[in-house]
Amino acid sequence: MPSKLLNFYGRFAPSFTAAGFILRGLPLQPIGRAFEKQTWLVTGATGGIGRAIALGAARRGAIVYAVGRNPEALASLERVPGVKSLKYDLDRVADNLALAEHVASIGRLDVLVNNVGRLEHAYKTSPEGFESTYAINLLGHFALTERLIELGALRDGLIINMASGGLYNSALSLRRLEQSPAKYSGVMAYAAHKRAQLALSDKWTEQGVPAYTMHPGWVATDGVRSSLPDLNRHLGWVLRSGAQGADTALWLAARRPAHRPGALWFDRAPRSAHAYPHSEAPEVEPEAIFAKLAADVAKAAASSSAA
Ligand SMILES: NC(=O)c1ccc[n+]([C@@H]2O[C@H](COP(=O)([O-])OP(=O)(O)OC[C@H]3O[C@@H](n4cnc5c(N)ncnc54)[C@H](OP(=O)(O)O)[C@@H]3O)[C@@H](O)[C@H]2O)c1
Repeated sequence: MPSKLLNFYGRFAPSFTAAGFILRGLPLQPIGRAFEKQTWLVTGATGGIGRAIALGAARRGAIVYAVGRNPEALASLERVPGVKSLKYDLDRVADNLALAEHVASIGRLDVLVNNVGRLEHAYKTSPEGFESTYAINLLGHFALTERLIELGALRDGLIINMASGGLYNSALSLRRLEQSPAKYSGVMAYAAHKRAQLALSDKWTEQGVPAYTMHPGWVATDGVRSSLPDLNRHLGWVLRSGAQGADTALWLAARRPAHRPGALWFDRAPRSAHAYPHSEAPEVEPEAIFAKLAADVAKAAASSSAA
């Protein structure tokens, strides 16, 4: 194994794998039935960490609207008591906006989990013409959440943004959000999207809706198997279960700790969002990111209403 990879695994594996979860004693600290009478919305809930969050919240008393695009996986979620499935393609801004309208028409949300996301190594575009991981990791979250806030559906609610330790690779950056095909780096795009989620959490908290950004650890999911085959090959045997990856989301919703600006929540504690000095100086003000997101939502909304 090359030494760079060895250093990387040596640095992060002790805490990011199932070993970290167990050594921190988390299996011995149950969360309890904390979500009676609550309504949750979980995106990307047909598999992986999102499914584990949806099942964990429903088991603890919540009604969970579980969003995905795969009909068989949605049908299997419908059979779980407390879970209701919603079919939307979250790669599309138009679907995120329609989802917000649909959910707001049902009532108020206690918890929104912006979980859906992926890392791609090849450049692709979304059906609306945006770089596809920018669309799913950030633009869709922004469209859904801003519309839910505008509609009053998150009054008294809270937001959990599913980020990743992958954000250590980038400072807050505008140029990396939506890269050109010629210079595309999926790893750096993913890092920039996840870094920008921290700024969104601070923004939404300032607007009155407490928002947390979290890292789930390294979790054995289809997403990891397809995007990070090396990680899966070397450490597959010690990756976290879906339930272990979901744990911090459930804990945050149960405890509602005070928001910590810029914190990356992991294993039930606020942690530094920087592992390397190069990510500490932002390349842009957060407002530049918010302006791009708002302009892209408006662009997508205008072209879908013209179609
Ligand atoms: N797993 C990890 O170790 C890890 C580590 C750090 C952060 N994360 C973050 O955790 C989140 C979940 O990761 P995961 O590993 O659980 O991913 P995953 O295994 O790929 O699961 C994501 C789920 O979202 C669904 N989905 C994907 N695209 C969608 C779309 N356009 N519309 C609706 N649903 C869609 C997928 O189903 P279909 O594709 O079948 O529709 C799948 O069920 C992501 O934000 C990821 O960045 C994961």
